[in-house]
Amino acid sequence: MRCLLLLVAALIFPTGAIKTLPLYIKPCARLDPKFNECVVKHGNEAIPHVAKGDQKYKIPVLDPLDLKEVKVVQDEQRPVGIALTLRNAKVQGLKDTVLRKADINFDRQHTFFEGTVPLVHIIGQYEMSGRILVQPINGIGDITLILRNVHMTFDEDWKFIPRDGEKYVFIENVTSSVVPGSVNVNITNLFGGNKLLGDQMNIFLNENWKQLFKDLSPVIFKIFAEVLASSLNTITTDIPFDTMFPERIPK
Ligand SMILES: *[C@@H]1O[C@H](CO)[C@@H](O)[C@H](O)[C@H]1NC(C)=O
Ligand SMILES: *[C@@H]1O[C@H](CO)[C@@H](O)[C@H](O)[C@H]1NC(C)=O
Repeated sequence: MRCLLLLVAALIFPTGAIKTLPLYIKPCARLDPKFNECVVKHGNEAIPHVAKGDQKYKIPVLDPLDLKEVKVVQDEQRPVGIALTLRNAKVQGLKDTVLRKADINFDRQHTFFEGTVPLVHIIGQYEMSGRILVQPINGIGDITLILRNVHMTFDEDWKFIPRDGEKYVFIENVTSSVVPGSVNVNITNLFGGNKLLGDQMNIFLNENWKQLFKDLSPVIFKIFAEVLASSLNTITTDIPFDTMFPERIPK
């Protein structure tokens, strides 16, 4: 299913340039032969702090992440599909992300990250109509999603933007994959509140979560990628490349 995503996240963007890294992000030296291992180590130390958000660095709160409205709109190429809107969704668990691998390639100006989130808990309101896995579905109510052992990868390109005699990194072309080890879903008030049909549909969705996730995952990838890219770009817009990745760490 190809989906169009309209994401309106409540991100805060005040202005003002800051030139140094936040204290909780320790720099890694470009000339360090174990540079990528350093990024994994310092990255893991920084994640819980970054997830709390930091107004000074324009980092939004990532845990819990508030998504005001996420819309999955039926693709015009496909007659069968679903219109799904999530409102006032709260995503919890990103602060426990474990970064497993980092590959920052300065020649290709490309970055790869791989990590795991042990538990992602999403609650919110939904409204949907259409079909899921060929089954007709409609309703408006509450939705709870529990994802366990979520494996994520991110690939991104970056380019340099010169400003005031410094160069800054701008991240583009973020792609990601998100694969959960298991998914549990609970959707209330389906089919106008028909309990029998609603219960049957919940059982069906939980039994078929793999296929369900495969269908909806392009949207989920996009949400993760956009949130990550905007968070990283808010940091890299204010901190020069040479401050973020010095050749050597000053003693
Ligand atoms: C992003 O992708 C486009 C299309 O492949 C490419 O032209 C562009 O150079 C990429 N951006 C960066 C920063 O590498
Ligand atoms: C689903 O959520 C509702 C309330 O949001 C709760 O009453 C119900 O017990 C839950 N069902 C399951 C199977 O967890």
